Amino acid sequence: MNVAVIFFSLTGNTKKIAKILEREGAHLIRIKKRTGLLSYLGLHRSPRFNATDYDLIILGGPVWNRGPARPLSKALKKYDFREKQVNLFVTYALNKGHGLDKLRNEVERHHGSFGREMAFDMSEDLREEDVRKLLSF
Ligand SMILES: Cc1cc2nc3c(=O)[nH]c(=O)nc-3n(C[C@H](O)[C@H](O)[C@H](O)COP(=O)(O)O)c2cc1C
Repeated sequence: MNVAVIFFSLTGNTKKIAKILEREGAHLIRIKKRTGLLSYLGLHRSPRFNATDYDLIILGGPVWNRGPARPLSKALKKYDFREKQVNLFVTYALNKGHGLDKLRNEVERHHGSFGREMAFDMSEDLREEDVRKLLSF
């Protein structure tokens, strides 16, 4: 099964989860944060990505101010997940707010069909067996 993990990570927590998935054979696609004027203008880079190459797409990123991190939301607008199976995860510390709900709403606009959703509280120990659940629909 071909799996892509599209993720954004500023301080490394989400990346830690992406790396566990990579060890299981997933292909990582990292969204980078832009700084300065480009960020101010809302111009974020969406890495090239062809959804048809994959059987499962996993989207992940941190919760910022109780919603999904803006660079992830911005990048997702460029993608088309039509007829794709999509699993979602967020990482947070203490209060996940509406991070997962808002991420789901954003992806729904891009026609994905949803499977698993997970929220990892990074102030607690990360269990790799929980992360691996993201690999099944
Ligand atoms: C700008 C900013 C806003 C954040 N807002 C929240 C929040 O509302 N709720 C929460 O639980 N954690 C919040 N956090 C903590 C991050 O969600 C948490 O540390 C996450 O795992 C970071 O992921 P990363 O290391 O992949 O960037 C925030 C962090 C930053 C930098």
